[in-house]
Amino acid sequence: MLELKNISFEVEAEKDTKGILKDISLKLDDNKFIAITGPNGGGKSTLAKVIAGIEKPTSGRILLDGEDITDLGITQRAKLGISYAFQQPVRFKGVTVLDLLRLAAGRRISVMGACEYLSEVGLCARDYINREVNASLSGGELKRIEIATIIARGTKLSVFDEPEAGIDLWSFQNLIKVFEKLHEEIHGSIMIISHQERILKIADEIVVIAAGRIAGHGSGAKILPELLNQPEGENCKFYQ
Ligand SMILES: Nc1ncnc2c1ncn2[C@@H]1O[C@H](COP(=O)(O)OP(=O)(O)OP(=O)(O)O)[C@@H](O)[C@H]1O
Ligand SMILES: [Mg+2]
Repeated sequence: MLELKNISFEVEAEKDTKGILKDISLKLDDNKFIAITGPNGGGKSTLAKVIAGIEKPTSGRILLDGEDITDLGITQRAKLGISYAFQQPVRFKGVTVLDLLRLAAGRRISVMGACEYLSEVGLCARDYINREVNASLSGGELKRIEIATIIARGTKLSVFDEPEAGIDLWSFQNLIKVFEKLHEEIHGSIMIISHQERILKIADEIVVIAAGRIAGHGSGAKILPELLNQPEGENCKFYQ
């Protein structure tokens, strides 16, 4: 179980400090599919980075299975089973797609095995397996390769930041299937940051983050209708 206790994250602004995350407390149970949503700039990516160890909270504690991991870096957290897919994935010059999948899996997966992960995210594996993860890959290709690496890792907690970003409509249908499958076979928890109704629909729990705070948290069945059934012209109650 991942537990966030009174997490705040502040940055130095011109005159004073700016609160990006404000006193967030959240318990995420094991083997759950959790969607995080909310308005642009609300703090979702920052929260994901704080969980992955990319940003350090200004105050508050993070516990993984009761162990305090607040002071651990990205690598140590990755070893404990937290993996993170960026909203804008990173390119790795000189590393092939096959290398990256093997690195992610942490074991010597066969070329066939690697190809299966690529096929799952809709890439024709033989075209990609020996390509370098560099600027020659399109945004959508890179995003899918990153999703394949997270699936290959199959860790305790996988965090995906807007996996749908930059993915074309046709591939989006397949991406939904990938996540549905992950949901069915769930080993460990999956946290997906998304604005897409179809992704929110398959979540066990939805957390709404707005203006750095938790504006709503509950079962998908409870939160989704509240997010969707807003009379026209009225602000969503979560988004004020
Ligand atoms: N290091 C930083 N310095 C200054 N401002 C920051 C920093 N990191 C994040 N912010 C600001 O904090 C707010 C939250 O950013 P964040 O990326 O977490 O939003 P988000 O909810 O992921 O938004 P989106 O839906 O657009 O991806 C934004 O206003 C952003 O500009
Ligand atoms: Mg974001």
